[in-house]
This record gives sequence, C-alpha cells and structure tokens, in this order.
Amino acid sequence: MTSSKDDLSVREQSGMAVVPGARYTSQAFFDLEMDRLWPRVWQVACREEEVPQAGDFLEYIIGDQSILVVRSDAETIRAFFNACPHRGTRLASGTGSFMTSEIRCRYHAWRWNLDGETVEVVDRHDFPTGLCDDDVRLGEVKVGRWGGFVFVNMDPGCEPFESFLGAIPEVFASYRFEDMRFRSYRTIVFECNWKTAVDAFNEGYHPQGLHPQMLTWYDDTRFVYAQAGRHSLYGEEHARQEMGPSPRLGLSPEDYDEAELLADRIDAVSGLFSRSDRRLLEELQRNGPPAGKTTIEVFNEIRIRAMRDRGYDLTGLTDDQILRNGTMHIFPNLLGPIVHGNATLYRARPNGLDPDSTLLDYWALEWAPEGAEVPPVERKFYEDWTTKDWGLINNQDFGNLVEVTRGMKSRGYRGALLNPVQEANIIHHHRVIDQYLAG
Ligand code: FES
Ligand SMILES: [Fe+2]
Repeated sequence: MTSSKDDLSVREQSGMAVVPGARYTSQAFFDLEMDRLWPRVWQVACREEEVPQAGDFLEYIIGDQSILVVRSDAETIRAFFNACPHRGTRLASGTGSFMTSEIRCRYHAWRWNLDGETVEVVDRHDFPTGLCDDDVRLGEVKVGRWGGFVFVNMDPGCEPFESFLGAIPEVFASYRFEDMRFRSYRTIVFECNWKTAVDAFNEGYHPQGLHPQMLTWYDDTRFVYAQAGRHSLYGEEHARQEMGPSPRLGLSPEDYDEAELLADRIDAVSGLFSRSDRRLLEELQRNGPPAGKTTIEVFNEIRIRAMRDRGYDLTGLTDDQILRNGTMHIFPNLLGPIVHGNATLYRARPNGLDPDSTLLDYWALEWAPEGAEVPPVERKFYEDWTTKDWGLINNQDFGNLVEVTRGMKSRGYRGALLNPVQEANIIHHHRVIDQYLAG
C-alpha cells in the first residue's frame, strides 16, 4: 500500500472515472483525509436547536478531534477546540450547559467566559508577568450558520463560509431548513468507511438492484443529477403527473392498480401521512377516483392537505415544488432525501482513526408548526445496527455497507468503475476531496 496521494487519485479509464478501492480501505488515505480534509473543511457540527440557551454546549467529535460548540448569547454561537490551554484536559463532553456562564477546567480550575476569553489563571502570580490573557484564551474554531445548521471549520485561514456554501442557500431556500426541528436523532456505528456511507445515499442507481420493492412506486429513470460547487443534488425535475411503476419493470397499465401503487408508496413513507390519509386512500382503492380526477391528483391533494393539517405554511410554493422529491449532498458528509416540510439526513463521520468505522447520524427533521414548542430531541445510540428493525429499505442499505466494505478489500478488486450519469455525484465527491488533499 502506498501512502502517496497521487497513486490513489481518481483515474480516467476509457473516458470513465475509476475510484481506487484503497481510498476507502487504506489507513494511509484515511490519515491524509484526517490531515488535510477534516481540519480544513466546513462541516456540520450540530443544529442550532441543540444549543438553544446561552451557556448550552455540545461536543462535536470528528475522528480524534473534539470541538466544543457553545451558545455564548442569544445571537451568538461559538466553537472552541475542546482542550484546556494549560495541560490539554478536555473541557466538556456530550451536551449540557455551563450554568455559571463560565467554562472551568476540572484539573487546575482555570476559567474562561463563553466567548473563550480568560477569566482566571489560578495563582497567576507564579507566572511571569509577560503571560497575557490572549496566550491562554480558548482556541477558537470558526463557525458558520445556515438553515439552522451550525458548521465549524478548524482552519483559521479557511475559505469564507459563504463561498463554501456557494449556491446552496439559494437552491434550497424554499425548503426552509431553519424552520425544521428534529423529530428523531439516532447515531449508528457501522463497520465501513465514512465515504461508503455517503455513497449509499448519493445516487438513485441502486434501488433497482438493492430495493426492487420500491420500483412499483419509484421511477428512478426520471432522476437528474447536478453538481453545485462542492455539493450536489439529484431527483425529479418535476413531480409526477401520472402514477406508475418504474419502466424497468416493463409493466403496462392493465398490469397494476394505481391506487395499490399509491398505498405502497404511502406505506413506504408513512411518516409523511396520517391515519385519515390512509383511510382516504383505502376509499380510493375501493371506489376509484371521483369523476373528473385521476388517482395521482387525489393522492397529491391528500399529500398537500396532510401538510396543511400539520400546520405547515405552504405559501409561495407551487404544487410541483411541494410534491417533488430530491436528495441533497452538502460536502463532505451530510446528505439525504428532502421534501418540503421533511428531511431525512445522514451525517457520516469517521469514528476515531479507523478507516473501517463510521458514525452515521440519522436525522429526521420536519417543519415545526407555527408557534409550537418542540421538546428537545432524545438522542439514541446504536453500537450494533442489527439490534433494531430500521424498516425494509434502511435495512437493505445498512446491511449493504458491510458487503461493500468486505468486497472492496478483495485483492482482486480493481476500483469503483462508476456510472458517469447516475453516479456522477459520487465521482464529483471524490474530485472535491482530491482538491482538499492536494492543498
Ligand atoms: S489542565 Fe486545565 S487548568 Fe490545568
Ligand atoms: Fe438505498
């Protein structure tokens, strides 16, 4: 195994991109990422709602680095390297609140305010008079905020946050991520590289292989793929105006019942609907659509009504926008399917310094109804994903992470030969990683 990055860059072969397997499996490449990617890239540390009050903190861990995100006042969120400037002690862990509005080291009781400024160096008179407060202030990590996400960057000379985001705020403005709150928060350990977990959700090429059950209601052949700066997205350009299975199944309209397909779809994304919607659909199955309406029109009405019933403000959105599906990827490691009102996001982080271990944060977010008090989310942790049933589709995706990892380690594996169209966003991901590694 070579430690030279050049030997592991994405290579061209007959006009196709080939991604060497060692980019996923080798310690050398992982170490390079820990050295040149993670300390320099803007990355999502948490949501603003996780540090709602002045004094609240959250420990964000990436690899062997720990960063303390702190709400210093109602408007300001700061981040610090989670290490005491004296002897290095970690200052806080998990989540909580600095009740005295001060950060105090447990070891020799030095103290800082919530802006990281030095409050007390105990027995300061022992130190030379040249010791200034700035010498021992907390090491600051840069913070950027968009859409309720708190991003951090460990590099003091990093690119401006706005240029990192590029077109993202504009492209996703109508999704109003800032109005979303956690519905659930789970963190799962997987025996795979963090990029394997990102790849699992960064293309719509695999459902025909891994999730054939989805094809009755999911037309993967309609997807378009696009890159936006470092980031990418894929999905439907427009919401469907007809109901039907993927053309891959080769079925004709007399082979299926539209209402049954809709029932499959609602069951698969049941979190978006209520029981009364399900009943309406059953009625549709029994009686067919009312005169003058198609099944999909009725379905779309149900979907929009369900959103209004939940108190979602749909002002300014077209029906097409409301009903369309897409998946966004914010470089390097946050991605997932989004619709207006809901997002299922996966954040994949290296777990310690093991290239084969990943912490996958699995977040369900939804618009909070106007004026609603949303209770803090309960974070759940799963050391072994098989201890829970995650639903058919997730189970298939999660189980596959292990299979990909095992296969990639084969001596006979010659690298990922990626589909230039449907896996374009994965190729793009690797190329952007290479930009960081080259710097
Ligand atoms: S290590 Fe923190 S005060 Fe000494
Ligand atoms: Fe999948």
